[in-house]
Amino acid sequence: MAHMGRRGDKAASYASAGETTGMREALERRWYDRLTSMPHLATLVTGELAQREPFHRWMHYKQGFSPGLVRLFLKEVGTTISQHVQYQVLDPFSGSGTTAIECARRKVNAIGIDALPWLTFLTRMTGQRTFPPMPQLDLSLSWASLADMLKEDIHRATLMLAVARQYTTAGKLNKGAAPLANLFEQTAAMMQEDLSSPLPMQTSCHVDDAQSLTSLDDDSCGSVLCSPPYLSQHNYRKITAPYETVYKHWYDKTTDTLHSNSLVASHPHVASIGKKNASSHPAESEACEWLIKMGEKKLARVTHDYFHNMQRFLLAMRRVVVDGAPCWIVIGGARPKGVYIPSDLILAELAEKSGYTVESISVARDLVSSRRKFGLIGHIAPRESVLALTAN
Ligand SMILES: C[S@@+](CC[C@H](N)C(=O)[O-])C[C@H]1O[C@@H](n2cnc3c(N)ncnc32)[C@H](O)[C@@H]1O
Repeated sequence: MAHMGRRGDKAASYASAGETTGMREALERRWYDRLTSMPHLATLVTGELAQREPFHRWMHYKQGFSPGLVRLFLKEVGTTISQHVQYQVLDPFSGSGTTAIECARRKVNAIGIDALPWLTFLTRMTGQRTFPPMPQLDLSLSWASLADMLKEDIHRATLMLAVARQYTTAGKLNKGAAPLANLFEQTAAMMQEDLSSPLPMQTSCHVDDAQSLTSLDDDSCGSVLCSPPYLSQHNYRKITAPYETVYKHWYDKTTDTLHSNSLVASHPHVASIGKKNASSHPAESEACEWLIKMGEKKLARVTHDYFHNMQRFLLAMRRVVVDGAPCWIVIGGARPKGVYIPSDLILAELAEKSGYTVESISVARDLVSSRRKFGLIGHIAPRESVLALTAN
């Protein structure tokens, strides 16, 4: 694997003096021969290309993957597996709905799940059959006044998307954005154009917690393609706040959802369960211990909870998939405060303990540009990988 090579001595200065790295080095060695570099996946694991495709272009979701990855998945795993199950493909971290939308485009049964209701709403809207005529609106009014005049769900989706276009993909106000009136007209025209050739199937997507998947029956899914949150502290609620604000003008006004960040740990319900039967992967414990020594207690807790919650997700997913189901998980590593966390490999070993066989780990790219000296194994950067599992 290319990632093991040496690069620039400058990077060596980043090594944390005194850091114990034996567990993570052993983990890297155990998987060394099974990591395959697949640079053609590098763009597919990002949302970059989604903006060029109908329906996928509605939401600008930087944290999403590309419809091309869904097509590759369908090609590789085939659609023959478990034809009998109601939902063939599951994406339990649906985000902008890439999996559900692309499957609907290809007439493949799929179900998306996300913790944030405004995202599942927008995904469902892509399955509308028509774009009814917009009522007469004075577009110079504020978004809230416009919202009061919109009765059709699909028109409400237009307003949510248009308001969100005034913000960056990180959820910050974009001072250079066009006026709302222009964005509203452009968004409506784009949606109308896409819906002039409606998707051949409905897009199914609803709210649930990926760590329990209580809305899904046992053995109800034939395969899984997903990208869980990375250990990067992305705050999905914050990133999607413009959608949330407009959505809550009409719906779920009082419902509270995940509070804080990507790290599923912040869900209050999950956090309380998360403390029980916590058995950690040794590589994760090693990284956490060093973080604590560095005075980074909170980061250590977040890291610990992250993997604990990932294990809960793997178990929930195993319950809802049939035996033999192919499950692809796009996952990125991290380097909080310089402490290297090989998330792909930790997840692979957690998966082996949770009822899956690891078929392959395809490395799409390094997540940071510099590699740093890591113990005795040379220079290394956190990877973004596609973990291919089979439910056994
Ligand atoms: C990396 S994004 C997925 C992007 C998606 N693959 C796409 O193409 O748009 C992760 C998603 O997981 C969701 N999420 C985080 N914790 C969750 C949980 N416990 N249950 C369900 N969804 C969750 C977030 O709201 C976010 O939309």
